[in-house]
Amino acid sequence: MAAPIKMQYLFILTAIEKSCGIVYNALYRTLGEIGMCKIIVVSSGKGGTGKTTTVAAVSSCLAMLGARTLCMDFDIGFNNLDLYLCMSEFAVSDFTDVLEGRMELMDACCESPLIPGLYFLNAPTDKKETENIDVADMFAAVREHFDYCVIDAPPGFNAGFALAHAQADMSIIVTNGELPSIRDAQKTADIIRDMGVADIRLLINRVRPANFKILQTTIDDIIDTIQARLIGIVHEDKHVFRALHEHKPLILYKKRRAAYEFSNVARRIMGEDVPLRKKGKFSS
Ligand SMILES: Nc1ncnc2c1ncn2[C@@H]1O[C@H](COP(=O)(O)OP(=O)(O)O)[C@@H](O)[C@H]1O
Ligand SMILES: [Mg+2]
Repeated sequence: MAAPIKMQYLFILTAIEKSCGIVYNALYRTLGEIGMCKIIVVSSGKGGTGKTTTVAAVSSCLAMLGARTLCMDFDIGFNNLDLYLCMSEFAVSDFTDVLEGRMELMDACCESPLIPGLYFLNAPTDKKETENIDVADMFAAVREHFDYCVIDAPPGFNAGFALAHAQADMSIIVTNGELPSIRDAQKTADIIRDMGVADIRLLINRVRPANFKILQTTIDDIIDTIQARLIGIVHEDKHVFRALHEHKPLILYKKRRAAYEFSNVARRIMGEDVPLRKKGKFSS
């Protein structure tokens, strides 16, 4: 029996949506080849808001969408991005090997065996003096080889924080939407703006479903306070914990809320129009 008319429309619409996605990604890869690398720094006033989770998930999604992506840890001495990426055993070099001329950028980076196109460059594991280091040459090489570079900034406003933002094209500030975290995010945004980064975005992470209704009424205020455009809302999801302990990148868990929401953030970064509001309300 023929499918009802409504169903046929649905199939046609789905097919059109899929082809648009394929054309979009192909176009994106072509643009990437002519060298338009974007350096994105993920930060927040203090630790625990989900910066490292965001860097790992968003950079994995960017790579899965076809962009050559480097993620870098700048949390010098307290680095743990390798754990979230499940790449600890491969990350034997760090960015000081490049800065101090011991290695070329591409020799120091390692590629994920699980997500092709995703590369990682670690921070040194011991605290090093980072003031007055010139990162310009290293980032020039990054721009030559990658479509995106996503940086995990340290908490607080130390020299590593300044270094991480030295070449930033975009900043994503992660807050959990609670008042103390919003205040920290505001301070962070002001400092980053003073550093000359014009494109500042806001990501609200670890939202509990029970709080989402209350948050709906305050998101516009949060955006006004921080003066940054919203790039996504990610819910509290037990798969973030599970992914870490099962040594599997979050993004490889299918049909999971946070994984889906982080992939929406990646698609927005790539310029796709993924609506942030549905029927007048914020959605993720
Ligand atoms: N959306 C989320 N749902 C559940 N747990 C999360 C989420 N985002 C982060 N976490 C957890 O919060 C903790 C801090 O996250 P992390 O990314 O290390 O923060 P930061 O880098 O800002 O210090 C970790 O235990 C992480 O697993
Ligand atoms: Mg961290």
